[in-house]
Amino acid sequence: NLYGTERQNSRGLDLSDAPKLVDLGSKMKAFAVTGWSGGPIIGGLEVPGDKQTVTSPSDRGIKVGEMAWASRDQAEQAVARADRAWWGWNKTPAAKRAECLERMADLMEENTPELMVLCMCEAGKTTADAIAEVREAVDFCRYYAVRCRRDFGDAMVMPGPTGERNELSLQGRGVFLCISPWNFPLAIFLGQVSAALAAGNAVIAKPAEQTGLVAAAAIKLFHRAGVPGDVLHLLPGDGPTVAGPLLSDERIKGVAFTGSTETAKLIQRALAARDGEIVPLIAETGGQNAMIVDSTALPEQVVRDVLASSFQSAGQRCSALRVLFLQADVADKVLTMLGGAMDELTIGDSADLATDVGPVIDEDAQAMLTAHIERMRKEAKVIRDLPLPASTEKGTFVAPAAFEIAGLHVLQKEVFGPVLHVIRFKASELDSIIDQINNSGFGLTLGIHSRIDETVNYICQRVRVGNAYVNRNQIGAIVGVQPFGGTGLSGTGPKAGGPRYLHRFATEYAVSIDT
Ligand code: NAD
Ligand code: ALA
Repeated sequence: NLYGTERQNSRGLDLSDAPKLVDLGSKMKAFAVTGWSGGPIIGGLEVPGDKQTVTSPSDRGIKVGEMAWASRDQAEQAVARADRAWWGWNKTPAAKRAECLERMADLMEENTPELMVLCMCEAGKTTADAIAEVREAVDFCRYYAVRCRRDFGDAMVMPGPTGERNELSLQGRGVFLCISPWNFPLAIFLGQVSAALAAGNAVIAKPAEQTGLVAAAAIKLFHRAGVPGDVLHLLPGDGPTVAGPLLSDERIKGVAFTGSTETAKLIQRALAARDGEIVPLIAETGGQNAMIVDSTALPEQVVRDVLASSFQSAGQRCSALRVLFLQADVADKVLTMLGGAMDELTIGDSADLATDVGPVIDEDAQAMLTAHIERMRKEAKVIRDLPLPASTEKGTFVAPAAFEIAGLHVLQKEVFGPVLHVIRFKASELDSIIDQINNSGFGLTLGIHSRIDETVNYICQRVRVGNAYVNRNQIGAIVGVQPFGGTGLSGTGPKAGGPRYLHRFATEYAVSIDT
């Protein structure tokens, strides 16, 4: 059916279900946090490469394992093999491709404890985030399987007014390059890869430098699920070195990218500089996400939703709240409550179930965030600037902080971590703050808290964002329910987890037969 409701999202795990949590914990204990290894996967086989040490974001003294990075020669081999294999995969019936995606979803569910351990020790995910990560990856595979059967199965028969038979079908484009970020090392990584495969493309997957082990585990499962080795290759490594040269390779017929706006623009320029074909770029990028709270909002609900939107996943979500616009009449009350709630946040090891805020991804992120916080201490009014507990000193942690700033102009770029900025506004200034948000050029998520329908409708109509959330938090879009993606500096669309996502990975083909 039209919305894919014959499929259900996976159930995940209810964290208040103690027996299930204990059971999961004991299954996860079977996997050590050290001794992992991975590397490039070409033609279905793991091949050697330049070994990099992987350490835990929660404790840099813990060596999680070794990840080998791919060379230029290996990249060349992978593209050549993919280029030869894609046509056969494109001609594989859509139902068979969909079955591979569904087997992949089943395999991920069977291997949830291992995948969770990897997400936690390599990417610093908390238990709740690791559960959600596997769940979202499973949902992407099942959702795109449904869309694949529906849109890539039988050709659409068009009218034939002159007696011709006219058929319209969707076809793969060739070899797709999928470049992903570290913050959803399984979900976004597999969201791109599964969509490209479903649409009939061969795939070169280039995961983030920081999360190659998770990616390697996922690709091995995809091969077990039935995707031929030559159709799906993994090239871990440094972005400019490994993926950079492929951008000018004429055999790459499309790029799916999720990451920073700066990198998306570099990729766009490289693709535009080619002499040959014009190829699509699907880019999902950063945001300067705001929440607008007027004086009719419920303060308790606002505080709950601000905490989740700003500090869950240590603020390392593209959807996370960065700028809270608070109507002046309620600002003092909300900020007092927010500060008190922030004091209750537990910062610590991602493996500890009590942890609300885990580590940030690496030393570079920690340094960038710490420098920003130091600047805010001097230039802004401190609402809360939490101390880091002594237990976190071996990891790359940044404590949640909230600052009151003079205006959106204070923030020149995305601050990708647990830092909230607050701006007060008067009721008469609503249009001006909407203009500020729109003029930032970013357009990913927006939160609105108001009990006045006219206000909500007015803001929703005027603000230029991809995903608006009313009287709730603004993170955690659900596959097939809240198709996700931004506009302007935040991305090109189409929306991940939405009914039209696969189409951008495909090309349309019309055949007219005179009978
Ligand atoms: P990043 O741009 O630094 O890296 C993303 C990927 O691009 C990595 O695999 C990297 O190796 C690769 N890369 C880097 N330079 C390249 C080059 N010159 N050529 C080819 N590939 C290159 O981003 P990141 O730090 O990994 O991720 C965080 C960013 O991702 C944030 O800006 C966040 O907002 C964004 N993000 C957006 C979404 C979304 O759906 N809109 C989702 C998650 C993350
Ligand atoms: N899809 C992720 C979220 O909504 C990025 O938080």
